[in-house]
Amino acid sequence: MSKIESKNIVILTGAGISKESGLKTFRDPDGIWAQHRIEDVATPDAFKRNPEQVQAFYNMRRDKLYTGNLEPNAAHLALAKLEQEWPGDVFLVTQNVDNLHDKAGSKNLLHMHGELSKVKCNACGHTVPWEGDLSTEDVCEACNTPALLRPAIVWFGEMPLEMDRIMAALTDCDLFMSIGTSGNVYPAAGFVQEARMNGKAHTVELNLEPSEGASLFHDSRYGPATEVVPQYVDEILRDGWA
Ligand code: APR
Repeated sequence: MSKIESKNIVILTGAGISKESGLKTFRDPDGIWAQHRIEDVATPDAFKRNPEQVQAFYNMRRDKLYTGNLEPNAAHLALAKLEQEWPGDVFLVTQNVDNLHDKAGSKNLLHMHGELSKVKCNACGHTVPWEGDLSTEDVCEACNTPALLRPAIVWFGEMPLEMDRIMAALTDCDLFMSIGTSGNVYPAAGFVQEARMNGKAHTVELNLEPSEGASLFHDSRYGPATEVVPQYVDEILRDGWA
């Protein structure tokens, strides 16, 4: 195995990578959390208190996914190309619940905060694809329990998916890239430190502006994702990294 074949890349993406495809981020001035309160729509307690309100919030966002003519942009496509062309492992961990990395063709992909395109039963855990609206009248096809189907989204206060797999990949990565995320939400915001602790990882932030944890990265490129991500991908496919 040549040197480059043994080099593994872990990529974390956030809402900023999908902004130029037409989706809102969360914490920018025009972002989702400027219009909705997290505690009303994105916690287990909110779902217990007012399931209709929570369903309506995710129905609106799911509708945008399927009827909004959303397409992956040059940044999503560049990451799919990186996975195809890089000789080592490329593991893409996204906080995004949209399906734009999937549509771009990324395969080694984990949606750590869940997916808008699926619903899950709070009673038995059965998870199924879902394109239309979800209501409190809907019944789980596996256990027949009514009113407990919920968006398959990891809410505030819940554990992100497959953390063991992510931590193992960070422990072994040679390059960690963080793209389009403000670094406000843990555990994802701590991945750069996890990667650095392995003693060999080079870390780079690609974002519109410096994130909360910007000083933790070895390198950074600031600008719109559709510009800086394809440029950086071409650079490392050509030259690797310093
Ligand atoms: N290109 C690159 N970055 C961009 C662009 C763009 N065109 N537009 C905005 N950004 C950057 C912003 O500057 C910001 O740093 O994307 C980041 C988006 O940050 P957030 O809105 O906080 O989104 P994210 O980091 O993904 O949020 C993390 O918070 O509410 C939860 O569960 C939700 O997964 C989400 C998590």
